[in-house]
Amino acid sequence: MAAVAQTALRHVPDKVESDFAHDVVAGLSARPKRLSPKYFYDELGAQLFEEITQLPEYYPTRCELSILENNAAEMAQLVPPDAALIEFGSGSTRKARILLDAAPAITAYVPVDISSEMLQQEAAELRRDYPRLSVLPVEADFTKPFQLPDDIALRPRVGFFPGSTIGNFEPHAAAAFLSHAASMLGAQSTLIIGFDLVKDVHVLNAAYNDAAGVTARFNLNLLTRINRELGANFDLGAFCHQAFYNAERRRIEMHLASRTRQKVKITGRSFEFRAGETIHTESSYKYTPESFGAMARGSGWTPVASWTDPQRNFMVQALSRQG
Ligand code: AVJ
Repeated sequence: MAAVAQTALRHVPDKVESDFAHDVVAGLSARPKRLSPKYFYDELGAQLFEEITQLPEYYPTRCELSILENNAAEMAQLVPPDAALIEFGSGSTRKARILLDAAPAITAYVPVDISSEMLQQEAAELRRDYPRLSVLPVEADFTKPFQLPDDIALRPRVGFFPGSTIGNFEPHAAAAFLSHAASMLGAQSTLIIGFDLVKDVHVLNAAYNDAAGVTARFNLNLLTRINRELGANFDLGAFCHQAFYNAERRRIEMHLASRTRQKVKITGRSFEFRAGETIHTESSYKYTPESFGAMARGSGWTPVASWTDPQRNFMVQALSRQG
């Protein structure tokens, strides 16, 4: 009786195993255990990230917005007439609007995102606020090859990848993304990209260990999501948030550490944790202006301009495909 009720309440996909289920099982079967940071962003996760961007310790969003605002006119000079702006992983269009306002040469905007709901809502608002702009949303995982709309086939392209999202990629994947963007955007294109800079370790550690505990909730929400969507039984009180700068690899690592020896059931499988064992949930790579430039050159791009904030916390680079 109890078993029947429990089965009925669980949201276990009964047909094909979802990507999420597959990735969770594979990640927790790996040693060390890991989960992909792309799964942080369910509804509550997106809300918690928005809260993170407003924390006093979390400088990247504020710094990047100020860099864009202070230098948009210069960025606009790199935009050819009748250009299409293609934003990878658009989410909110707050940053794109800064470029759109400064560069009337942009006559088409292509936001690319996996969340169709967000995409359609933002597209509607942009069409209202920029009636002369052609808004062409593409629902796709931008880390994989996807088709650009036919309408922009003849336009010069400017890629836009803000937010230091590239910091979540392993270095080989970051380079692969840049190469794939180069071939997709084509000859003569430009890519405007934001990344976080290597800096004082205390500033880095504080940004991912905020006093209000929002980053901890953001990290732990991944387990809540697995419980809800995959019918798992993670005890949230039995795991704790860990974040630290790994200087050798120039990355912040976030982990969820098991407080005790325990077993967790997910999609009918059992996973064991030693006391202190962690799940690596995110890497956030930091670059120097030179290390990023070198990676860009190795991926078919030439850095043509860069902008930073007065504290040199964050950087936006413009990359060009013309040698
Ligand atoms: C959205 C990947 C840029 O790495 O700083 C914020 C995500 N994780 N706090 C980052 C994040 C914890 C963020 N990125």
